[in-house]
Parts: sequence; C-alpha cells; structure tokens
Amino acid sequence: MRGPLHSAPVGTISLAIGEPSFDTPNVIRDAMLKALASGATHYCDQFGLMPLRETIASDERRSRRRSITVDDVLVTHGASAGLAAVILGVVNPGDVVAIEDPTYSLYADLVAFAGGTVTTFRRNQNGELDADSLHDAVRSARLVIVCQPSNPTGAILSSSDWGLIVEATRINQSLILSDEAYASLIYDGNAFTSILDVPGLETRGILCQTFSKKFAMTGWRVGYLLGPSELIAAASVVHRTFNGSVNTAVQYAAITAISDAQPDASRMLMEYAERRVVMEDALSSVSGLEARTPAGAFYFHCRYADSRDSTGLSRAATAAGVLVRPGREFGPAGEGHIRLSFAAAPEDIWEGIRRLSSVLDMSTERE
Ligand SMILES: Cc1ncc(COP(=O)(O)O)c(C=O)c1O
Repeated sequence: MRGPLHSAPVGTISLAIGEPSFDTPNVIRDAMLKALASGATHYCDQFGLMPLRETIASDERRSRRRSITVDDVLVTHGASAGLAAVILGVVNPGDVVAIEDPTYSLYADLVAFAGGTVTTFRRNQNGELDADSLHDAVRSARLVIVCQPSNPTGAILSSSDWGLIVEATRINQSLILSDEAYASLIYDGNAFTSILDVPGLETRGILCQTFSKKFAMTGWRVGYLLGPSELIAAASVVHRTFNGSVNTAVQYAAITAISDAQPDASRMLMEYAERRVVMEDALSSVSGLEARTPAGAFYFHCRYADSRDSTGLSRAATAAGVLVRPGREFGPAGEGHIRLSFAAAPEDIWEGIRRLSSVLDMSTERE
C-alpha cells in the first residue's frame, strides 16, 4: 500500500520520486494553450476524442504491424484510471488475480477494491519468470497483471517469459493486462516485447499506457487502454462512471505529443541513460547495497545489508536527508530492498547515495 504524498523537508534529496524531473516539452504545452484558445473547453466523447484515438491507433499500428482500430482504444485519466477501469470492469468478488511480487502496489489495492484475491509469482535468480510459481499463481486466475519495464525492478519480459505466460494461461484463457508505463525507457538496446506483439493474446491481452513518463506529463492525467473492443467497452463503463471524459484540451495536447514530441522523448531517454550510469557508479562505491542494473524504467531495486526492515531503513534515510521507497511497499518479496529513482539530477544522485551510505555504515557499526 502506498503512503500519502508528502512534500520533502527543505534540503532533503528525493530518490523516491516516480516521475520525470523534466517539465513537459514546450510543443505540448503550446498545443494545450492553442486548444483552449480555440474553445476546447467542453465535455467530449467518453471513449476519448476521435482524432486522439485515431492518432493512438495509427501510432501503435505502425510500431506493431497488426490490425488496431479506434474501437480498440479508450482514452483514460492516466494509467491509474486505465488500470482501475480494467480491474473493476473484469474482476468480480472472489476472482483471483495473479501479479508479480514485487510489483507496483496499485494493482493489489485495486484488486482488493474489486473484492478479488491476489496470488503472486516471482522471478528466479537469473531474472526470468519462475515457471512453477507462475503456473501456481495463474491456475485459477481471471486476470494476470504484468508491469514491464517493472516498477520497482526495471525488468522486462523476454519473449520466452511471454511464452510461459501464454502457455500457463491457455487452458483458463485468463485475461492479461500489461502496464507498459515505462516502455519508452529501455536502455542498452534491450529488446522490448509489448503485449501487442505477443502471438496468442490478440483476444485476451490489454495494454495500459500513459503519457506521464514518456512525455513528462504526470500532472496532465492522460493515458489509454488498447485491447479487444469487448474488453475496452467493459472498461469504458467503469471509466465513464468514475471519471467521465478526459479533459478535452489535454487530449489535443496528447495528439501533439505523439506527432511532434518524439525528439523530446528521445532527448529525455538519453538523459536518463546517463543518470542510470551515474547511479550505478555511485552504488558501486557503497558496500552493503547491491542491485541488478535495470533494463528499463528509472529505478534501482537495491538489496541492502542492514538489520532494519525496509520501512525502518527508509525512515533512517529520511532522517539523514534522503528519501527512498521501502521495498515492502511493492510486496513481501520487496522486503530487504529499497527503491532508488534516478529520475533525479545527477548531483542529487551522488549526494543522496552518500547520505544513504552514512545510514548503512552507522547501522553496520551498531550490529
Ligand atoms: C508502473 C506504473 N503504472 C502506472 C503508473 C501511473 O501512471 P499515471 O500517471 O499515468 O497514472 C505509475 C506511476 O508511477 C507506474 O509506476
């Protein structure tokens, strides 16, 4: 369960942030102003503005080379509302939903809200999905939720991981929801397989996407779901009940994001790639913190050597002037870890890890 959002005390460095440190590119902001000036101040279609749905469908079709129509697209109030719309739309009380442990905490919260039960699967030492735990978790699952690149680990699903998922869910025909909020942040040329590219999931796979991370638009609240039209229609009933149509001018700005802000997204990706190296270097100078280099997103999921639990260690880090996320927030398997974000400025990454190491050093001396 996530805690409330607090503003950090003055002088505190945040390595806890889950959002880009960049402001939204000007071309997108200008499009919003233009839309407002030309009267985009009214309600619009509950599925989203048709020109935005067309832009999304053609953008995804181009990169996926499969048939996608506007009926497969629902514009949502960010990924958060998209996730809620799918989960509340398809999970009935008593249904089982399988998620990875650790993973983004919103999924379990939403499943509890829908009256469902969570089962979990893990990865093995090599970072691949563990076949036995996956088979156990999905045995009676109505829905399987994956997050890739993962928040908090940065791991992505290889085509063999996807193969396992397809095979393990074949008999039940479980629905699969893939949250790809960080899909634009993939490093080292790692191959990324979107759910839209997985054979066998055309009729039961749903993509949840957002403009928040790729285009630094967290405060705008716009994202989308893409999947078979019957599932999209079910999700749209929940979305229009809880949220109503998405801000009209924001949707015009989202069209501009897709058509004109790709160079900005590439520039931000290059910057994150550099910051990932900075964090890797900073971590390598600290004993007692170790992490697999993330393939994507902007987090290191660090295992630490310290006697405290992750909440206790995070509190101690806050007292030392650096905010981090306790691993327990992402599930039981996150215990013994903290999540560090490299969406922070490079100098903050160095200083934040220095402060963190001073806390670890002190606790080591105490033991
Ligand atoms: C994996 C993941 N999915 C979804 C979201 C929510 O994104 P949005 O801002 O579009 O609601 C976040 C935000 O941190 C996230 O980390």
